[in-house]
Amino acid sequence: MKILVTGGAGYIGSHTMIKLLENGYEVVCVDDLSNSKMIAVKKVEEISGKKVDFYKADIRDREALRKVFTEHKIDSVINFAGYKAVGESCAKPIEYYDNNIYGILVLIEVMREFGVKNLVFSSSATVYGNPHKVPITEDFPLSTSNPYGSTKLFIEYILKDLYKSDNEFNISILRYFNPIGAHPSGKIGEDPNGIPNNLCPYITKVCVGKLPFVNIFGDDYPTPDGTGVRDYIHVEDLAEGHVLAVKKLEEKPGLFIVNLGTGVGYSVLEMVNAFSKALGKEVPYKIGPRRPGDIPMCYADPSFAEEFIGFKAKRTLDDMCRDALNWQLNNPDGYVE
Ligand code: NAD
Ligand code: WQD
Repeated sequence: MKILVTGGAGYIGSHTMIKLLENGYEVVCVDDLSNSKMIAVKKVEEISGKKVDFYKADIRDREALRKVFTEHKIDSVINFAGYKAVGESCAKPIEYYDNNIYGILVLIEVMREFGVKNLVFSSSATVYGNPHKVPITEDFPLSTSNPYGSTKLFIEYILKDLYKSDNEFNISILRYFNPIGAHPSGKIGEDPNGIPNNLCPYITKVCVGKLPFVNIFGDDYPTPDGTGVRDYIHVEDLAEGHVLAVKKLEEKPGLFIVNLGTGVGYSVLEMVNAFSKALGKEVPYKIGPRRPGDIPMCYADPSFAEEFIGFKAKRTLDDMCRDALNWQLNNPDGYVE
């Protein structure tokens, strides 16, 4: 079985390609390297001992995609390709709509042209907006408050309409909660450009002395310690979830939506403390104002994922912190080519 992974050089894609290769799948990767480096693909090959057929291309480039589908008989596609920064999406909404939405439209058109009808899509817990309660089940109301989230929600609508019009499609919409951590080898991990926006890559930069302290965005939320609570999931667990989703598509299930989370929420302070434990010394922090647009609490009800695709996150918070820190300590400047 051959899987096309778009955006495979990125953070979640690189970990997923390893799991696919370990599970006997052949992997073709299309990535324009707009937010990643080729060395990540080389590391995937080094870790797995297997080859990835790599194409440097933008998924909006129809001819480039046709070439890939002509040269390979693809069974299923996992689409990670897209832009993902919430703040940037507010400054560059048109670029986000163009890349994320037009990108998947071109991909679907070329898939149809070549009779490939199995697709896994990276959605996000962001489509739940500010949930009315926790834990969050897949049938909660959907809303968004920024262009990035809107691209995810609109694509979910597009995929539902596509399936209604052609039920030969098998579509897996995976709503990720907060992926963190890295491959235990320390050879691949999250490598954001500049100062990280997300909590964990920020904390690991503080751990290696690249940033002075963690800014905690608010301690007056209605949560047990006043700081925001999220469902952090090890990227290795998330990657395994994709293999299960691909296997499920082979059973021709139609369209399904699952949360990929652990079902457990940790606060920002708990995260800082967990990293202090992994580091063996206190991680410095300062409490500051809330970040606009943040919600108090968000964690998954993961029971449908377990029931439907057999997914259950196995790795602990200690595993997540150890592996994230190991990656950052081994690669204080991220990937260097
Ligand atoms: P990432 O930026 O590390 O990976 C995305 C990859 O896609 C990058 O390698 C980038 O170069 C590539 N890419 C972007 N636009 C492209 C295009 N038009 N053609 C080809 N390649 C393109 O991001 P990630 O964290 O690995 O996220 C993967 C997917 O999961 C994204 O769609 C993201 O929105 C979604 N997601 C991520 C998170 C998260 O917290 N990381 C949470 C929920 C959902
Ligand atoms: C986590 C918690 C912050 C940074 C984002 C996207 C979401 C998804 C995952 C893609 C919050 C606090 C953060 C810092 C802090 N991505 N924080 N200091 O906001 O839950 O989700 O990434 O789909 O769409 O919105 O993740 O890691 O930014 O924040 O105190 O320097 O940490 O307030 O409570 P978030 P995050």
